[in-house]
Amino acid sequence: MPNKGKIVAGVLAPHPPHLVYAENPPQNEPRAECGWENLRWAYERLRKSLSHLDYDVLVVHSPHWRTQVGTHFLGVEKFSSLSVDPVFPNLFRYHYDLAVDVSLAQQIHDQAEKEGLTVKMMKNPHFRIDYGTIISCHMTNPTWDKPIVGISSNGAARYFNMEVLQAEMLRLGEATRKAIEDSGKKAVLLASNSLSHRHFTVEGEVPEDMSREHISNHNQYLWDMKIIDLMKKGKTEEILSIMSDFTETATAETDGGSLSWLLSALKIPKYPAEIHGYGSVIGTGNAVVEWRTPL
Ligand SMILES: [Fe+2]
Repeated sequence: MPNKGKIVAGVLAPHPPHLVYAENPPQNEPRAECGWENLRWAYERLRKSLSHLDYDVLVVHSPHWRTQVGTHFLGVEKFSSLSVDPVFPNLFRYHYDLAVDVSLAQQIHDQAEKEGLTVKMMKNPHFRIDYGTIISCHMTNPTWDKPIVGISSNGAARYFNMEVLQAEMLRLGEATRKAIEDSGKKAVLLASNSLSHRHFTVEGEVPEDMSREHISNHNQYLWDMKIIDLMKKGKTEEILSIMSDFTETATAETDGGSLSWLLSALKIPKYPAEIHGYGSVIGTGNAVVEWRTPL
């Protein structure tokens, strides 16, 4: 009998392509002068915090791998190609080369299937990995020295409503936790989404001109502060209870279910989260938040 596996940390790890652009890693073609330091330094603090943890794999749930029916899992051991952000091809042209922990992906798939969810392993070796997955993983672990498990989001929030999607994501979170425990592995989970998500529709001549950057409006900001305050106080059950209102009124990127999945996998934490930082990107609200699971 192997040792019981564990989720050692869960992270809200948003994926604005601007953050990778401003970091100037060798994988990304465009070059930046600077920009979005609040959030980049938040990710620096996250990386420092995770560097003290022993873990085997990053498990990421992405709003930009959208499967209309059910939840899909990356099911091929290696992917490499060029990822271009469809909205910001001037900022994000990233050459990725990543490894997948297919056996853990299969275990989560099987557990979710056993619990009645609609699931599928994605086995196309030429599949193009979405930029949400790539950016959250890059900003969390730029050396890519750990394999990932990639999980899609589905369209239930639009096809049915947010309540239906959230109910599914709570079950997927539980299945994820159970499969990780059975695997004997130590995992860090990433929910790859912004908070409020209303954004500007025009870009300045210099994308990293920070004199233009601010939250799109005060209502969105108030919503973000409300959600962050609940995270700080360990009131994640309350976050789940207002998730539909938040998603609708703040046009939040929680509509893919990533945050609901994460909170469920973490057993709906009552302990305070560590807020590594908050900042806006083209008007959207983004927080880098870590839940370190108790020993
Ligand atoms: Fe996004």
